[in-house]
Amino acid sequence: MSVDTRALAAEALAEIALRGASLREVMERSAPKLADSRDRALLMALLSDGARWWLRFDAALDLLLDKPLRRKEPAVHALLVLGLVQLEILQLQDYAAVAATVEAARALRRPQLAGLVNAVLRRWQRERETLLTRLDADPQARHAHPAWLAATLARDWPERAEAVMAADNQEPPLMLRANRRRIERDALIERLRAAGHDAQAHAWLRDAIALPHSTDVTRLPGFAEGAFAVQDGAAQVAADLAELRDGQRVLDACAAPGGKTCHLLERAAVELTALELDPARAARIGQNLDRLGLEAQVLIGDASTPRAWWNEQRYERILVDAPCSATGVLRRRPDVRLHRREQDIAALSTLQRRIVSGLWPLLARGGRLIYVTCSVLRAENEALIDFLLEATVDARVLPFTLPVGQAAGHGWQILPGDGDLDGMYYAVLEKI
Ligand SMILES: C[S@@+](CC[C@H](N)C(=O)[O-])C[C@H]1O[C@@H](n2cnc3c(N)ncnc32)[C@H](O)[C@@H]1O
Repeated sequence: MSVDTRALAAEALAEIALRGASLREVMERSAPKLADSRDRALLMALLSDGARWWLRFDAALDLLLDKPLRRKEPAVHALLVLGLVQLEILQLQDYAAVAATVEAARALRRPQLAGLVNAVLRRWQRERETLLTRLDADPQARHAHPAWLAATLARDWPERAEAVMAADNQEPPLMLRANRRRIERDALIERLRAAGHDAQAHAWLRDAIALPHSTDVTRLPGFAEGAFAVQDGAAQVAADLAELRDGQRVLDACAAPGGKTCHLLERAAVELTALELDPARAARIGQNLDRLGLEAQVLIGDASTPRAWWNEQRYERILVDAPCSATGVLRRRPDVRLHRREQDIAALSTLQRRIVSGLWPLLARGGRLIYVTCSVLRAENEALIDFLLEATVDARVLPFTLPVGQAAGHGWQILPGDGDLDGMYYAVLEKI
């Protein structure tokens, strides 16, 4: 019997939103149950938009249901959220969306709830305007961001918070990085266009190519031979700021899955050590290096305790792409907003401080430490650099500007949507 895509999506979304599972892991488990690639694409759209909009439509169900279903019938609850997502976000035809969602309740073996699913979605359609006004009055439901995050954004970026949350709710473009060791960017753009893709060179990033929609990248010309990698443009700034020269010793201290490691190696013939705490994630560095035809020493270790893995030779460049809240990449990782907790920020900030203070002594005089996060929160960014400057006597800030974003403390903040990029923070320190 064929699997009902919406029923499968509802079970998967309940795991993500109510039991803390990651979207990626659930998608990897669920997608193989669907034979047709269009069904798999619908599953991905339902899970991405279901997670992205959960906090809005979950709140809508509190207005629509007398008794909440979250605990007793989590899959049906998630199915109702998905019904609203289909009507409001995916803009599927009303009749098809409602009928298919009611059918999915039966596929979940809940025929007794099919009538309720139908009634709730019909009521939404009848009372839509009033319900939308009520949802917009609640800060959490308005932008589908957790209340603590909406409040932190409003405090950190009072003039930009609304635009940041709106950008978090958009589908991001697909961005590639041409592997200049294998192909010129223009030549790759020609190959992509010949295959029918609307590929455009990025205006100011040297290796970046934008495509308007996500697609199965393994089918793009050049994938198997390592002509490109998938990487948002904001992440490609790291290699520019490193200003590498051949022969330099470089440490990429929080390296997995190796996106920035590979970009650094594509730019110059450096001697690179890629350090990563998580062994499973470290394995992905090796896979990326192999596909792109690059070489580095991959080490498993804790960046905050170098004594365990350092060979006493200082580095001329250290990239610290620190573990962070990922609040700059919510548009690409829609489940993060459901799993991140306010108290995580203080714990992350402590970890970031331990990592940079552990690594600073490993930097050679005249060398650069590039600090990066995909966070938009000041506690993880400006405050970290202030901390390091206070804790050391031999650090000097190297100021720089980028075509998009804004100065933030001693560094630079790209907010989500600035130049259609992910949110990312950069600061560069030199050892004097
Ligand atoms: C933001 S991700 C790095 C992304 C990577 N630089 C890229 O461009 O593909 C941060 C990484 O740091 C790792 N990490 C966390 N704590 C660490 C520690 N104490 N030492 C080294 N790596 C750590 C995480 O497992 C994660 O893979």
